[in-house]
Amino acid sequence: MPEMSDFFKSACTSRAYSAVAGRVVLPWALQGLRPSGLGLEIGAGSGAMAARFLDRCPDLALVVTDYDPQMVTCAHATLTRFGERAVVARADAAELPFDDDRFDVVASFGMLHHVAGWERAIAEAVRVLRPGGRLVGYDVLDTAPVRWAHRVGETGPSTTLAAGRLESELARRAVTEIRTRRAAGGTLVRFIATKAAVTLRAPAGQPIRRPARDRGRR
Ligand SMILES: C[S@@+](CC[C@H](N)C(=O)[O-])C[C@H]1O[C@@H](n2cnc3c(N)ncnc32)[C@H](O)[C@@H]1O
Repeated sequence: MPEMSDFFKSACTSRAYSAVAGRVVLPWALQGLRPSGLGLEIGAGSGAMAARFLDRCPDLALVVTDYDPQMVTCAHATLTRFGERAVVARADAAELPFDDDRFDVVASFGMLHHVAGWERAIAEAVRVLRPGGRLVGYDVLDTAPVRWAHRVGETGPSTTLAAGRLESELARRAVTEIRTRRAAGGTLVRFIATKAAVTLRAPAGQPIRRPARDRGRR
């Protein structure tokens, strides 16, 4: 698995990054979304984005996860002030230890390109979302400056997203209302999508759709 270098880790945990993340990156990445209920952030790093997310959305509680134990410790320290509204846990985004249909929102901020097989992280994010829940975030695209930065800043193979791959991956998943928007000269992409209503397969292979509110009814 590619790992962030110490340089990137200290950049991600710095006060300057936290200020920019809260004031600039988070509102931009959320694209007007103000969720409530229970959310999950994958690859949350220092917890800087999660802290601003919780400040911004008072009716939201967050499960904040990262694969790197150092980042989990850091996120824990960042988020203690939120008490029970923030639970921090170590989890691999490609193999989430949560039940299906659990979260109202799943957020992924600049982390997919760190995951070898990021497609699996998208599949997992969709699996743990409840029908009608939102997947939201942003990531970096495979462009020359990003390739250069990651050669310097990471160990292991780069997993940056080739242009168009995120869109095609989302289109394969049980999500609707997919919107992706490029920014910063095509180096960044924001995305938002809604988990589709439950789909059942009839024996003949015909899909039967029913809305989420009807789940469990006979
Ligand atoms: C560039 S940092 C972004 C941190 C945070 N999302 C933010 O915007 O401040 C990427 C994070 O993804 C984490 N990460 C990498 N691979 C992961 C995986 N498979 N599962 C969970 N987290 C992962 C790294 O440990 C790192 O903290």
